[in-house]
Amino acid sequence: MAEKIRWGILGCGKIAAKFAADLRLVKDSALVAVASRDAERAAEFGKTFGAALTFDNYEALAASAVDVIYIATPHSFHYEHTLLCLNAKKAVLCEKPFAINRVQASQMFDIARANGVFVMEAFWSKFLPQYRKVIELINAGTIGTITWIQADFGFKAPEPVPARLWDPLLGGGSLLDIGIYPVFLALSLLGKPEEVNALITSYPGRGVDQQCIVNMKHKGGALSSLSSTFSTDTPVQAVIAGTNGRIEMHNRFHNATARVYLSVNREPLTEVDVYREDGNGYQFEAQHVTDCLINKLTESPVLTFQDTLDLMEVLDKIRHVCGIKYPEDDAF
Ligand SMILES: NC(=O)c1ccc[n+]([C@@H]2O[C@H](COP(=O)([O-])OP(=O)(O)OC[C@H]3O[C@@H](n4cnc5c(N)ncnc54)[C@H](OP(=O)(O)O)[C@@H]3O)[C@@H](O)[C@H]2O)c1
Repeated sequence: MAEKIRWGILGCGKIAAKFAADLRLVKDSALVAVASRDAERAAEFGKTFGAALTFDNYEALAASAVDVIYIATPHSFHYEHTLLCLNAKKAVLCEKPFAINRVQASQMFDIARANGVFVMEAFWSKFLPQYRKVIELINAGTIGTITWIQADFGFKAPEPVPARLWDPLLGGGSLLDIGIYPVFLALSLLGKPEEVNALITSYPGRGVDQQCIVNMKHKGGALSSLSSTFSTDTPVQAVIAGTNGRIEMHNRFHNATARVYLSVNREPLTEVDVYREDGNGYQFEAQHVTDCLINKLTESPVLTFQDTLDLMEVLDKIRHVCGIKYPEDDAF
């Protein structure tokens, strides 16, 4: 491996730009190559973020001299693009949702193991300081046993609504795109649910959800109530309530701007200090991947393969209950 971990970016869209900006804050790493389907877009992106190599196709990036590739294409391409890179023996950080379903995710991990290369879902929230602070408070018993979680993620999609949000061929729908954050929070704090109920409002004629509401019952009787919507702006907050108090994560609970509040024994909510630094917040997951690669790990000890498989399994279950279906579901 080179002195610095050499990053490549596959797909030069919106999130790729935020991630590329944050890579500048990551120690021991450098952005060296980017690929777009469009040569001009790749050149422009490379110039903006200082990548020397730019490609007009993804295969050339997979074959190039990089150590790790960040995959930032629509959900339905995560499987194909991750396999492209893993089979070229490149480590991968793949955007959420890692795949369309659990079967795909499991195959992706098998290929990573067979090639002996690192792969991780880019579930950035898990690496953010405020999320870690919340876990610290919970593990210290501050709010007692968690009995109830409520979390939402909704925004009014701009018109015309981008195809990525409604087209089943691109993995569209609110659950996989943003509902995944409340579901991840409930799973990581309460474990896999024993019961799942869900309702959706579909995009007419598309079969994928414009809005989704999920209620889950977890071991010991704890309940989680989770929602996502592209129809309206919602608070994007999380409330984690326990036998001794509650934690609230305010707008937007899943990202680097979230503010954390704590109430114990019915005292008024007070804000909890959280470490902040410049950037969009993607530097924390990128630093973690860089450190894993320097230490020659093929799996993250923080966000394990099992974490992603569990998340995919629960998303599959929710989709089954409320009837969200993708073409990829038929292939397996
Ligand atoms: N972690 C987060 O906070 C976060 C936030 C937003 C999105 N995401 C995830 O990141 C992924 C991309 O989201 P985005 O908002 O960046 O989307 P986007 O702006 O539409 O960018 C996606 C990029 O994928 C490439 N692409 C390849 N095949 C495509 C196709 N058939 N149709 C459209 N684009 C195609 C395009 O890059 P080229 O044309 O350059 O090849 C496009 O610019 C999604 O899976 C999403 O869940 C994560």
